[in-house]
Amino acid sequence: MMPARGLCLLGALFLSIFIEGQAAGAAASGATAVGRQLKAPNEGYNYIRHGFDWPNIQNTDGSATYPTCSGNAQSPIDIDMSQLVDESQRQGTSGVTLNDLNVDAGSGGLSFTQARVKQIEQELRVDFTASPTDNLPTITIDGTDMSFTPLQFHFHHFLSEHTINGVHYPLESHIVMKDSSNLEASDGQLAVIGVMYKYTNDGAGDAFLNSLETQIRTKIENGDATYGEMDVPIDNINAKADLLPSSLEYVGYDGSLTTPPCDERVKWHVFTTPRMVTIDQMKFFMNVTMEAHSDAALVNNRVLQDLNGRKVYKYGF
Ligand SMILES: *[C@@H]1O[C@H](CO)[C@@H](O)[C@H](O)[C@H]1NC(C)=O
Repeated sequence: MMPARGLCLLGALFLSIFIEGQAAGAAASGATAVGRQLKAPNEGYNYIRHGFDWPNIQNTDGSATYPTCSGNAQSPIDIDMSQLVDESQRQGTSGVTLNDLNVDAGSGGLSFTQARVKQIEQELRVDFTASPTDNLPTITIDGTDMSFTPLQFHFHHFLSEHTINGVHYPLESHIVMKDSSNLEASDGQLAVIGVMYKYTNDGAGDAFLNSLETQIRTKIENGDATYGEMDVPIDNINAKADLLPSSLEYVGYDGSLTTPPCDERVKWHVFTTPRMVTIDQMKFFMNVTMEAHSDAALVNNRVLQDLNGRKVYKYGF
């Protein structure tokens, strides 16, 4: 359950979105009263209506810009734990075998030595610019064993995208992986690992999030990065310790990108044991997005999508 304090914070955030919307108008008319540079978004979509409007975005000829956003196998979804189907019932597709992604860096696990943090239009994202090639995660799809290269991870903040039994978490990270044998293809098979973060009032919260915040703030203070324009190298990331939860039960289903163009080529794996995040750590996401630009998304979750008969499978529990 979300603590009352969290709900208050959310109230403040929705108010902030409204204010940001006002700021957008001011920026467009050339006013600079807000005292910080407001960058216009250029991805052609935003989160003001949390994606309800994406299927209706049109090209100049009136055709839908993102037709797949109204498809039948969209993400995110609510995960109803009482309706999960045993993994043995899934036809053709296996779960994900994490391999070195779930091994400590000191024991040869996946460690990303070249990662860059980018703040793209709607999110804080960390790109792995040189991904390891050995012992990567694998998934069997239609009888073929496929290896997946982690490309990046990013955050959906203040409301998770997936819900579990109808309940949102305050933060969800998505580790995006692509078919290693087809990395250049624009339609290559994707697999995403979703990790929830739950509010805690204890201690300093998630050590990796603290490290990420410190690195970003230091670079901004030193003039090596600017809010909204960030593209800076960061320290090694140890996948297991920094990104995965302590327990590895997950649910799997076939879905889509949760941003336009909403392509339905994603094998989803949403882990059900959360990592922990403090209110202060969440404030950093508010800070970064508010500093970014006029249409930045303080709450960047897409609304829940219908299952349309899809099954959600359970792995490890
Ligand atoms: C973000 O944090 C910086 C450093 O603490 C602060 O100067 C700035 O005012 C904050 N911005 C917002 C919008 O909270």
